[in-house]
Amino acid sequence: MRCNWETLYENICNCNKCGLCTKRNHVVVGMGDAHADVMLIGEGPGQEEDRQGLPFVGNAGKLLDKMLAAIDIKRDRVYIANVVKCRPENNRTPNPDEALACLPYLREQTALVSPKIIVCMGATAVRYVLGEDFKITRDRGKWVERNGIFIMPTYHPAALLYDEKKKREAWADLKELRRKMTELNINIFEETP
Ligand code: URA
Repeated sequence: MRCNWETLYENICNCNKCGLCTKRNHVVVGMGDAHADVMLIGEGPGQEEDRQGLPFVGNAGKLLDKMLAAIDIKRDRVYIANVVKCRPENNRTPNPDEALACLPYLREQTALVSPKIIVCMGATAVRYVLGEDFKITRDRGKWVERNGIFIMPTYHPAALLYDEKKKREAWADLKELRRKMTELNINIFEETP
């Protein structure tokens, strides 16, 4: 299937392809610029995301906004999505059957956004976007080119909340993202006052 945003939203919002649909309050499709050059992919909605129907609006999301601001990017200039669109209870990692059932939606979103850069935040995004051969600790900060899209694994912001030591590497990844954007002439930088 190749669809437009309207059909895609409708399909995702009515989805019952896995058990996660039974407990959701809101489906979390994605947010931001629907034609962004930069797409960020996380794991799945947490409690606050499930409540609001928006990605990265809880504590990890607040940190994500600060990280983006550190390289002069506002969240509405990128597109943010997750591997799964419904919250796994207690924020557990989605099971492979849940992630694989949801993956066609992420592929559709990616095709519609058509980004030049994708940042996979955390092991789940890396696993389902790049594949099982990639490991976050080994491959973070490195670019992989797939179908003309540059993809970089980095830590999930929630991991940085638990482990301060990862912040230095995450900062290096952010600077590399900014450098790559400049190389690709992606200029969405705005300083936050
Ligand atoms: N963590 C994620 O992976 N995605 C969200 O939307 C929020 C927290």
